[in-house]
Amino acid sequence: MTDIQALLLSRIREVEDYPEPGVKFKDITPLLADPAAFGALTDALADIAVRTGATKIVGLEARGFILGAPAAVRAGIGFVPVRKAGKLPGATLSQAYDLEYGSAEIEVHAEDLAPEDRVLVVDDVLATGGTAEASVQLVRRAGAEVAGLAVLMELAFLRGRARLEPALAGAPLTAL
Ligand code: PRP
Repeated sequence: MTDIQALLLSRIREVEDYPEPGVKFKDITPLLADPAAFGALTDALADIAVRTGATKIVGLEARGFILGAPAAVRAGIGFVPVRKAGKLPGATLSQAYDLEYGSAEIEVHAEDLAPEDRVLVVDDVLATGGTAEASVQLVRRAGAEVAGLAVLMELAFLRGRARLEPALAGAPLTAL
């Protein structure tokens, strides 16, 4: 483990039985409150954006906004929010995806992504991979290219990486 990984890990709080019994919630608020850790994370995400030649960062509601937006500024590229359905006022593209029980839908403003864009998708956690998979599909449907997916944490036991492989089609998935 690198020094930066140790710093990031030390600032993630595990909360037992939240939001429901049996779940160990990974709380990133201590990391956000520490400027050294948040700055190191922002630098690492910006580095990935630059390395992958990204022209936009797409952040996933809600914690992907907090992590993705400063990284986009630092990398000198634009930020595009992917929101839960019904929150964006303009013309949107929507993508539905299955949850354990029921389904969810996410949206992006169609005009925020252009065919010449290369997009780095950013979120805090990769769990089952459903949210990230739907986001990658949205980016492609907007005509843009997927430069990669970057997350702070990967819950490997949920096998999101395997689920995402076909959608990513060779684009790199980095879990910091
Ligand atoms: C969490 C997390 C990811 C997603 C990962 O968001 O921030 O976006 O779930 O899960 P998946 O890989 O199984 O799709 P949540 O739905 O809790 O939304 P929030 O950040 O708005 O609270």
